[in-house]
Amino acid sequence: MQNFIKTYLLFVIITLSTLHVTAQNKTAIGAEKAEIGYRPQMHFTPKKGWMNDPNGMFYKDGVYHLYFQHNPDSNVWGPMHWGHATSRDLINWKQQPIAIYPDSIGMIFSGSAVVDVKNTSGFGKNGKSPVIAIFTQHNMEGEKSGKIDFQNQSIAYSNDNGFTWKMYKGNPVIKNPGIKDFRDPKVIWHELTKKWIMILAVKNKVSFYSSANLKQWTKESDFGADMGNHDGVWECPDLFTLNNENKTHWVLTSSINPGGPNKGSATQYFIGDFDGHTFTSNSNKTKWMDYGADNYAGVTWSNTGLEKISLGWMSNWIYAQQVPTINWRSAMTLPRRLSIQNVDGETYLTSDANKYLEGLPKITKSLTNGFGTLNDNMGNSNGKVYKISFSENQLNPFTISLSNKLGEHIDFGYDSTNHQFFIDRTNAGVHDFNSEFAVKHFAPKIAMSKNTIIYALFDKTSIELFADNGLTVMTDIFFPTAPYTQIAIISNNKEAVKNSFKLDFYTK
Ligand code: FRU
Repeated sequence: MQNFIKTYLLFVIITLSTLHVTAQNKTAIGAEKAEIGYRPQMHFTPKKGWMNDPNGMFYKDGVYHLYFQHNPDSNVWGPMHWGHATSRDLINWKQQPIAIYPDSIGMIFSGSAVVDVKNTSGFGKNGKSPVIAIFTQHNMEGEKSGKIDFQNQSIAYSNDNGFTWKMYKGNPVIKNPGIKDFRDPKVIWHELTKKWIMILAVKNKVSFYSSANLKQWTKESDFGADMGNHDGVWECPDLFTLNNENKTHWVLTSSINPGGPNKGSATQYFIGDFDGHTFTSNSNKTKWMDYGADNYAGVTWSNTGLEKISLGWMSNWIYAQQVPTINWRSAMTLPRRLSIQNVDGETYLTSDANKYLEGLPKITKSLTNGFGTLNDNMGNSNGKVYKISFSENQLNPFTISLSNKLGEHIDFGYDSTNHQFFIDRTNAGVHDFNSEFAVKHFAPKIAMSKNTIIYALFDKTSIELFADNGLTVMTDIFFPTAPYTQIAIISNNKEAVKNSFKLDFYTK
């Protein structure tokens, strides 16, 4: 009880000093401080310029390729290129030269890439598999002149494993049928029909196309006009399989903006069956990959076999172009391994980021009665991320609060009244750039079963909360004006705090 009172007092002190800080109407810190203070350490960020969606992710010869929506000359959205980065472990990224530039057909919007192992496209050279990128070209002049057919699908090919690309002379490969929102092709190989399948976001639904050679495409079917959430436009879909209990499940994901469970951009998913022609969902329930505000347009890497690895853009269109970074804007989430779990007759996706941190050097820090220090300045660039984890048999309400000397704090935890996890960034730091930023986000606890493993990954300006064994995920960003240096656990369950709480500090 004494500890609880002590913890509670600390919380009151933090809250009071926060009132003082927010009353000052804090504005963004300067460019140099923003560069040091806000750039995440373990998450991919572009060196400079604007970034949004991850694109064209594929794995080949031990290298993970990540392309991204990129405006290299400005920190806001503009003429889109495909930026490029490579990694061998999905944590240490090396930014490469820009991969694909806009041309006379249009800017390079989101899309995917496949390794054409059988050289079905005929672009292969000297027996080496070509890599084919499939993307939307958005014609700005067309849009401005009031046309509606300004989004078309094109392809490019690479004969050097994705470092340099040539545009296909026959572009576009799918012409716009007269629909304004017609974009973001994700292509997979469908073994049963021995064809390439494209899933494309079309306004309020997805369409499927098939092809034998990635150049000629035939429309197969539509899905989703009467399923899931429709409070915004569907974008950046994905289609992949996951095996669970000897069964192959087809998973269809679709990002939507706005309409997310905590406002703005988010990604919904459906689980069911796909026969090469049509997709059928096994449930009418709307399910979300991430209930936080900051995981959008996520898709999976191609060519990774049975392992399905997803990564999203760690921002939200509500405020992405206003966040207080200056040299660059936006980070990607950490990579997450996806699986399937059954809960009371429903199938759900689970996400886990542990797998890709496992190989990194790690120090386990201790806490005394629920208090600890994050004792580095979180400033310099030798990558670090804190993992805050614990497991409980019976989940009791708790709050974990990370705070700085100015009394700013980011809080997350579990509220048992409504069985909800939460991240509260109300007093986390700078928020005057957008009136919708400083809020508390909630997510439902999906499995009411006992034995819960919860962990959160903290990297300077983001929390990724994996609750309920990965069934409920929340990702939120925030901008403290000084590094968080304190951690406090507020809980009346001493056992959970003392026995199962762990604070791991990973470095690159
Ligand atoms: C999603 C999105 C995509 C589009 C891209 C443009 O964030 O709107 O639909 O291809 O961004 O940058």
